[in-house]
Amino acid sequence: MSFMQIKDLNVHYPIRGGFFNTVVDHVYAVDGVSMEFEKGKTYGLVGESGSGKSTTGKAIIGLEKITSGQIIYEGQNVTNQRRKRNSAYNRDIQMIFQDSTSAMNPRKRIQEIIAEPIRNFMKVSPQEEKRRIIELLEIVGMSEEALLKYPHEFSGGQKQRLGIARAVACNPKMIIADEPVSALDLSVQAQVLNFMKDIQNEFGLSYLFISHDLGVVRHMCDHISIMYKGRFVESGTREEIYANPQHVYTNRLLSAIPNIEPETRDERKVKRRAVEAAYKADSHKYFDENGKVYPLKDLSQTHKVAMMGAERGGM
Ligand SMILES: Nc1ncnc2c1ncn2[C@@H]1O[C@H](COP(=O)(O)OP(=O)(O)O)[C@@H](O)[C@H]1O
Ligand SMILES: [Mg+2]
Repeated sequence: MSFMQIKDLNVHYPIRGGFFNTVVDHVYAVDGVSMEFEKGKTYGLVGESGSGKSTTGKAIIGLEKITSGQIIYEGQNVTNQRRKRNSAYNRDIQMIFQDSTSAMNPRKRIQEIIAEPIRNFMKVSPQEEKRRIIELLEIVGMSEEALLKYPHEFSGGQKQRLGIARAVACNPKMIIADEPVSALDLSVQAQVLNFMKDIQNEFGLSYLFISHDLGVVRHMCDHISIMYKGRFVESGTREEIYANPQHVYTNRLLSAIPNIEPETRDERKVKRRAVEAAYKADSHKYFDENGKVYPLKDLSQTHKVAMMGAERGGM
């Protein structure tokens, strides 16, 4: 059973122009996206830069205005109450960003930074608060020494872990992680991803994991949605996406995963060329005459793809 549903989410930005500065067009940043989240699961949201991933995440948490659509959380329509102070939604849904530095006040010590959500959402004594902060630092593999330091005294990977500590401070149900490891070195990426997994197992958290790289989400996600120009082109379980991709754009992203084994490199090059050729030759199957992605069609209970014929309910 899902605890949260996103129904037909749209975020359209007006483009103004002309002599009277009227709205001449819109950027369809998010254009009819639906999702469902279950407890303890990780959902990948993958697409190239500009496809609408961050806007989707920010719209869900309430940092971006929604043009239309609904967000249902534990049976309640919270669409217009996402930023209500001290609400359950505000406490239970947290976000971490690619650049944790900008999310932390540089003049505050780590103790203050992590205390913020605790003060907002939990009524605890100063002693209890400090105990909780130390416990959170421990969870992300850091010692008490961090308490009195400032954000700039930490490396990128450490800062990202501090961001995770703050996000989990009030036992959230769901964390929206927007490219949480994209700015980190490969070795540090693995470490932060492992912390995220450990915390998930311990607390039964769900993640919406945003990335431009299908390679990064591979070992994290139970379910993956591929986004292109504000719409989902394909959505399915990890197995369905990696072993049985249907949309040409999914294939394109898969063929772009960097390869570390030299023996398969030439093989991959050939495959990549074939994918590019298919992209050009068959694009009418995947995009309508305006270059727009077709509506999603069910291939199985979990696997959906946006291809020609979908709008008529079959191929
Ligand atoms: N405030 C805004 N006003 C107008 N257009 C925006 C705004 N924010 C984002 N966009 C546009 O919306 C699209 C999706 O952006 P974004 O969600 O940041 O993509 P992603 O996170 O996948 O890189 C892009 O074309 C971007 O230029
Ligand atoms: Mg983004």
